[in-house]
Amino acid sequence: MAYAITQTCCNDATCVSVCPVNCIHPTPDEPDFGTTEMLYIDPRTCIDCGACADACPVDAVFPVDLLSADQAVFSDINAQYYEDNGADHTWGAPRFPRSGPQGSDELRIAVVGTGPAAAYTAQSLLRSTSAEITMIDRLPVPGGLVRYGVAPDHPSTKKIGDSFAALYRHPRLRAHMNLEVGADVSHAEVAEHHHAVVYAVGASRERTLDVSGEDGPASISATRFVGWYNAHPDVPPDAVDLSAERVVLVGNGNVALDVARILLSDPEELATTDIAEHALRTLRRSRVREVVLLGRRGPRDAAYTRPEFRALSRNPDLRIVVDDQPGVREAIDAAAPGDKAALLDGVPIESCEQRCADKRLVLRFWSAPVEIASDGSVLVARTVQRERVQLTSEQDWISAGLVVRSIGYRSAPLADLPFDEATATVPHRGGRVVDPVTEQPVSGAYVVGWIKRGPSGGIGTNRTCSQETVDSVLDDAVAGRLPVPSGSRRAFTRLVRRRKPSAHKFT
Ligand SMILES: Cc1cc2nc3c(=O)[nH]c(=O)nc-3n(C[C@H](O)[C@H](O)[C@H](O)COP(=O)(O)OP(=O)(O)OC[C@H]3O[C@@H](n4cnc5c(N)ncnc54)[C@H](O)[C@@H]3O)c2cc1C
Ligand SMILES: NC(=O)c1ccc[n+]([C@@H]2O[C@H](COP(=O)([O-])OP(=O)(O)OC[C@H]3O[C@@H](n4cnc5c(N)ncnc54)[C@H](OP(=O)(O)O)[C@@H]3O)[C@@H](O)[C@H]2O)c1
Ligand code: SF4
Ligand code: SF4
Repeated sequence: MAYAITQTCCNDATCVSVCPVNCIHPTPDEPDFGTTEMLYIDPRTCIDCGACADACPVDAVFPVDLLSADQAVFSDINAQYYEDNGADHTWGAPRFPRSGPQGSDELRIAVVGTGPAAAYTAQSLLRSTSAEITMIDRLPVPGGLVRYGVAPDHPSTKKIGDSFAALYRHPRLRAHMNLEVGADVSHAEVAEHHHAVVYAVGASRERTLDVSGEDGPASISATRFVGWYNAHPDVPPDAVDLSAERVVLVGNGNVALDVARILLSDPEELATTDIAEHALRTLRRSRVREVVLLGRRGPRDAAYTRPEFRALSRNPDLRIVVDDQPGVREAIDAAAPGDKAALLDGVPIESCEQRCADKRLVLRFWSAPVEIASDGSVLVARTVQRERVQLTSEQDWISAGLVVRSIGYRSAPLADLPFDEATATVPHRGGRVVDPVTEQPVSGAYVVGWIKRGPSGGIGTNRTCSQETVDSVLDDAVAGRLPVPSGSRRAFTRLVRRRKPSAHKFT
């Protein structure tokens, strides 16, 4: 018997460091780590010690013979990875965590944000230095997208929040919630009281489609829809109207799958989760029967990850069909094993126009919106690619009553810091903020997470990302490159109290 990693893996690689036989790959040192959808255990080398299962923060690891029926497929998926990639379990050179300079107890570091990137950064700084950490978040509750993004029907993933929650009991950490840097306090004010400021502010905005009618009454972004079912304070309880029978979801990434599941799930199942009460009430009255997921590319280039699609397709209460577009059958039939299109093998191919008695999710490929009407209908252009050139052919209307635009997130510029509009990230080298004009580091300013890398990657990818930024902070501390703040931590707390009486400490 061996162990296997399953759907909820968020790539944080905690298991890699506890495995005594190095049989979990790709490791953060291996090239595939940056693009892998999950990690895999080599069943031929695993010695069943169970250390990985104990260490996994999201309960993704199980002994193969205890896998539930819908997770059983992961036994083969783990083994297949080693068939396809070979197995090299030799240990690389040992790496020792970077530690803080002598006198680091005098260091004060501010971390702006409390999402995964901020939490991994604070954990690492607390472990490797004796610095004092100030965390700041504009929202009243910490967690970032773990609290306000991860779908309520993913309770195992949300569990990672428990490991982050321990941070707020640490005697060297203080968290100021309901306080926005750039609005309530400035970067200069935070920097005046800390040796370094690490921005982990994520990507709170949405990308835009730039089509006519995008901001119409029956069109909403996934950012807002997700915030609605997660009780985000910026989204009112009546933000979503589910009185239409058909919803068009633009984009086919994992967020689109989350939204589709919430729209089509049995509300009584959702009632057992921490979904917002107002969302549950609306979902109980929902008339939605069909969700059409529009991908602008073909089935092999769908943006959802394999584990998330497999989980969705094993849901016995959810009927999934592929819209019968020209070429789609051929693309699925021709898919090699491991190709994303092969996930659709056996999924019925039906016309989107056919009515269906059951609730269903329709996957429509090569389709991009051109116009959104005020009633929620969408004019869609079918796109084909020939010799890398994107050609648009016929257009047709999909009649619908709501459009959810799930085409990705976008970071907002931060006052007083450089920002690259093209990538919507803060320019940096190894996490050090860099002025694009002088190409010199902005003294004492760092970035981590989605504001550094852009809005992609699961929760765990922020762990390796934060290690790079923390190493840069510590290198600068050792080299004496950090500015010396003029104000104390107590003075910062007084400033916060004066400036924003409704800001509160989180313990
Ligand atoms: C809808 C959705 C669902 C997801 N589900 C999963 C999943 O199931 N599994 C998975 O592995 N990954 C999931 N992800 C990806 C994962 O959530 C991200 O990788 C991760 O949250 C990015 O971390 P971050 O810390 O950079 O940003 P965030 O988590 O967004 O945290 C940023 C924090 O900064 C705060 N902030 C922003 N600006 C300011 C400011 N000016 N002052 C003070 N505070 C500020 C915000 O309030 C927020 O708390 C999901 C992503 C989305 C969008
Ligand atoms: N593990 C989980 O459960 C989970 C859950 C949610 C999110 N996440 C992670 O969070 C990250 C963000 O997810 P996401 O779904 O927001 O983003 P995403 O994976 O980048 O998907 C965005 C989708 O929007 C499409 N798109 C972008 N611009 C478009 C345009 N102008 N017109 C039409 N379509 C357009 C993209 O198409 P193209 O592919 O053609 O660009 C893609 O299908 C991802 O890394 C995701 O894996 C993970
Ligand atoms: S979530 Fe982390 S610890 Fe759990 S299996 Fe995935 S990489 Fe390993
Ligand atoms: S059970 Fe033990 S040997 Fe097997 S993958 Fe997990 S940590 Fe490694």
